[in-house]
Amino acid sequence: MLLNNLKETEEFGLFLGKNVKKGMTICLNGDLGAGKTTLTKSIAKGMGIEDYVTSPTFTIVNEYYGPINLYHIDTYRLDDDFDVDYLGFDEYFYSDGVSIVEWADKIKHALPENYLEINIKPNGDKREVNLVAKGEREEELKEKIHESFGN
Ligand SMILES: Nc1ncnc2c1ncn2[C@@H]1O[C@H](COP(=O)(O)OP(=O)(O)OP(=O)(O)O)[C@@H](O)[C@H]1O
Ligand SMILES: [Mg+2]
Repeated sequence: MLLNNLKETEEFGLFLGKNVKKGMTICLNGDLGAGKTTLTKSIAKGMGIEDYVTSPTFTIVNEYYGPINLYHIDTYRLDDDFDVDYLGFDEYFYSDGVSIVEWADKIKHALPENYLEINIKPNGDKREVNLVAKGEREEELKEKIHESFGN
């Protein structure tokens, strides 16, 4: 589907945040500046999180507390041979909170079984978005998104 400008990306994020379910993982892929953090900010807003959401590039994980907690993970700075067990991402993935992972492709082998993957391709101010759902609830969410934002 196509998001025509920043406003449409924000609307998509708000919608996602309102419809995301406890315990879900959202994987974000796309190059530098694709809009992963921008989308995460809107998802957080949609989830009712009032804190200011910033990029966790240096901290790797930022935790936000709301009706549903949000764990915002950015794997960009991880070495390629990092120890996933040591980082303990499973504590986030298998919690009641929602986990959002920027550069999720980098930790493909460490992702949970179920997740909604969002691939973002920038083209000026437009963003081509491609969704991949793993799991039943994730598939439902994907359908719901396409009903509202087109295919
Ligand atoms: N339609 C759009 N959707 C999202 N961002 C947009 C859009 N149009 C313009 N932008 C701009 O693109 C930039 C996206 O930056 P952002 O930090 O969100 O990307 P990122 O994918 O998180 O990058 P990084 O890989 O460095 O973490 C922002 O400056 C944002 O304002
Ligand atoms: Mg980012």
